[in-house]
Amino acid sequence: MDGTARAEAHCQPCGGPAPRRVRHGRPARPADRAPLKFDLDRAGHLHIIGSPRSGRSQTLRTLAAALGQAHGTDNVHMYGIDCGNGALHVLASLPHCGAVVDRNQTERLGRLLDRLGVELTLRQSILGTRGTADRAELRRSQPLHERLAHNVLLVDRFEVFEREFSSYDNGSYLERLLRLLRDGAGVGIHVVLAGDRVLASSRFSGTTEDKIVLRLNDRQDYSTVGIPSKSAPSDPAPGRGIRTQDLSETQVAVLGEDLSGTAQAEVLAALGRELTEREAAVPAARRPIALDVLPDRIAYTDALALHTPAGPMRPLVAVGGDTLTSLGPDLTGVPTFVVAGPPRTGRSTTLLTAAE
Ligand SMILES: Nc1ncnc2c1ncn2[C@@H]1O[C@H](COP(=O)(O)OP(=O)(O)OP(=O)(O)O)[C@@H](O)[C@H]1O
Ligand SMILES: [Mg+2]
Repeated sequence: MDGTARAEAHCQPCGGPAPRRVRHGRPARPADRAPLKFDLDRAGHLHIIGSPRSGRSQTLRTLAAALGQAHGTDNVHMYGIDCGNGALHVLASLPHCGAVVDRNQTERLGRLLDRLGVELTLRQSILGTRGTADRAELRRSQPLHERLAHNVLLVDRFEVFEREFSSYDNGSYLERLLRLLRDGAGVGIHVVLAGDRVLASSRFSGTTEDKIVLRLNDRQDYSTVGIPSKSAPSDPAPGRGIRTQDLSETQVAVLGEDLSGTAQAEVLAALGRELTEREAAVPAARRPIALDVLPDRIAYTDALALHTPAGPMRPLVAVGGDTLTSLGPDLTGVPTFVVAGPPRTGRSTTLLTAAE
């Protein structure tokens, strides 16, 4: 390992038109030591493949920091799905980040996948009506304030996502993610998957050419992900990877000297504060969609604070939505409303709430 291991993820701060490529690492051979770039206008998806403790989460954090530094919040919207130990949570401090969803928040995860699915459909129809097959061309033809932002979905421990969601809800979660992988790249919806050798499976491996392979504990796995055994490294350090496109070696940059997860997260949080200030002028409509967490329990008084009274026949019974708002039946038009569910699910309480 050499000094590049601790290179900072330094990118040009945004000012004027955002640079399209962000640096998130360096090739490890001195002869070709140019920054490794992720060019959102050209790139589709990115796979980061490695065994446990190979530096997968760190690669996602570095990439997010680099994207945040290089682009405005109106140009890049990030979303995270954390199926591991919470390493991605700190991404939420970036103003570019709409939401980081934990795998246990299944309802919120469903909303995130739905949102991105709706965005995908919308973009496909925009491209269709404009008769433009190429998103980069469309972006160039749009005025700056109307440009479709790049959406970047970062998934940590994809092997856990695959295991838990391949059958959950009839596989609809995995299916929605697969749709983004199949069709998203062409319309500026990029998926960055960090996972183990499950990414070598034919369902996922064909969705991108762009892969960084970190340490794999079983040497045989290198060939299954497209690295010939003679190019397979022996026991590489964390963050050291091989790009499958040209088999070049790369060292993923870290954020500051202290390599512990907590210290790396702190640097990212500080960057988030700095960028929040820098991006303060971006209007809400150009920012990523926030997906509020649905509370497990909410007091009536707290719910009332989110309520805009619309008359006595519009009782408040619940809260919901991506930005939490009050919900309830509209009894002005149709005077009936059904509260249904099996025993002990809260039917009587719903009626009491409506009555109040
Ligand atoms: N790019 C890097 N350069 C140097 N060291 C790194 C790099 N990335 C990670 N490390 C070291 O490896 C450790 C593990 O990194 P990280 O948590 O990103 O790995 P992981 O593959 O996500 O692990 P897990 O299987 O636990 O999810 C870090 O705490 C850090 O010490
Ligand atoms: Mg991890």
